[in-house]
Amino acid sequence: MKIVMIGAGYVGLVSGVCFSDFGHQVICVEKDQNKLAKLRAGKVPIFEPGLEMLMERNTREGRLRFSDDLKSSIVDADAIFIAVGTPARRGDGFADLTFVYDTAREIGESLTTDTVIVTKSTVPVGTNREIKRIITACKPKAAFEVVSNPEFLREGSAIEDFMRPDRVVVGVESEAAEAVMRNVYRPLNLRETPLVVTDLETAETIKYAANAFLATKITFINEIADLCEKTGGDVQQVAKGIGLDSRIGGKFLHAGPGYGGSCFPKDTLALVQTGQRYGAPQRIVETVVAVNDARKSDMTRKIIDACGGNVSGKRIAVLGVTFKPNTDDMRDAPSLVIIPELISAGASITACDPEGGAEARKLLAGADWVDDAYSAADGADALVIITEWNAFRGLDLSKVAELLNSPVFVDLRNIYPAEEVVAAGLTLTNVGKGHVKD
Ligand code: UDX
Repeated sequence: MKIVMIGAGYVGLVSGVCFSDFGHQVICVEKDQNKLAKLRAGKVPIFEPGLEMLMERNTREGRLRFSDDLKSSIVDADAIFIAVGTPARRGDGFADLTFVYDTAREIGESLTTDTVIVTKSTVPVGTNREIKRIITACKPKAAFEVVSNPEFLREGSAIEDFMRPDRVVVGVESEAAEAVMRNVYRPLNLRETPLVVTDLETAETIKYAANAFLATKITFINEIADLCEKTGGDVQQVAKGIGLDSRIGGKFLHAGPGYGGSCFPKDTLALVQTGQRYGAPQRIVETVVAVNDARKSDMTRKIIDACGGNVSGKRIAVLGVTFKPNTDDMRDAPSLVIIPELISAGASITACDPEGGAEARKLLAGADWVDDAYSAADGADALVIITEWNAFRGLDLSKVAELLNSPVFVDLRNIYPAEEVVAAGLTLTNVGKGHVKD
């Protein structure tokens, strides 16, 4: 099959590369010349484990190309995927669909063959119908179908998620469009991946409902963690105890500093806005958004408390600033709230992150940066783990205790068992572990 992927951002690039690995002929269309030059030189502009190798192999074997010319690329395409960005609009939180609609217009103006136009970008309910209207207005006689095919890729494990998905969702309006999508995903048949075929609006809603549900699960366990801290109890064991109930499931029950990233914050907000617009308020998700927002500052207070109620003049070592491990993504990372708040409270910050790099340095300009955990700890008055990178999971705690000025160890991801931390002579503050004395 010939597949064209418009937009070689995170979702577009991962999807395009993986489709080419399925054996399809893929052209990724990217307008940003900087990005295009990098891609053509075989460089991956984002950090995603396994992507560069896959991109190299499929380019070498002639299945994957990059172009900035939409018009010539879409000639004879069996499927044209729209995978451009849908950022949250400043001010009102609605998904900004400018790029999606501009792309639809450009496709409409360039369309010559019978094809399906598939939306991969996360778009609010009703967007695919609007895309259809835009293209029809450009080319009233064009034979085309619109399909909604949301993605469920996690940063850091996107290749695995694409190649071994729990399900593939396609919203279609005809059997012909369904047949094309079955062909696109045919290589997954071997694994008997369920293909959930729905109408357009249902597919659009599945994406938002999935992300909002996962964000709710995280926020739920975070509040249970708060309760455990007051009443006694261990949130990790509570999560295990409820997660083994197959109706609940154990995933996305790790208490921590609140969810961040490119999807959950944006998609929960967009769902809330859609609910308000259509008079079906999503009150649970509204609360999730508010609780998660507040949680980041709660974490700052937790750190300040661990430091004896005052961080003025103290130096705090921060390990991990990206919103989660195995990504260089800083979008809505809890560190972006916690670190500036600590600085406002008078602390100085020495941070380190395996991949946070240039973006993190720009966004957290008030912090000093070092290359490893021990250099961060050296002479600091407290050490705080915000993101659970592998590099921070096996620290020599005795060495950390020796390097620190005072033995304050704050583990916001519950990586370390209390006994180990205490045995190393450190005072532990973590999440959702209360202690009741008789
Ligand atoms: C998410 C969805 O998982 C994916 O299906 C969707 O398409 C895009 O959004 P991603 O944002 O890459 O993927 O990361 P994910 O692993 O889901 O984590 C999101 C946030 O939740 C992170 O900040 C993470 O630290 C936090 N999280 C996750 C928790 O705090 N606890 C958990 O148990 C799981």
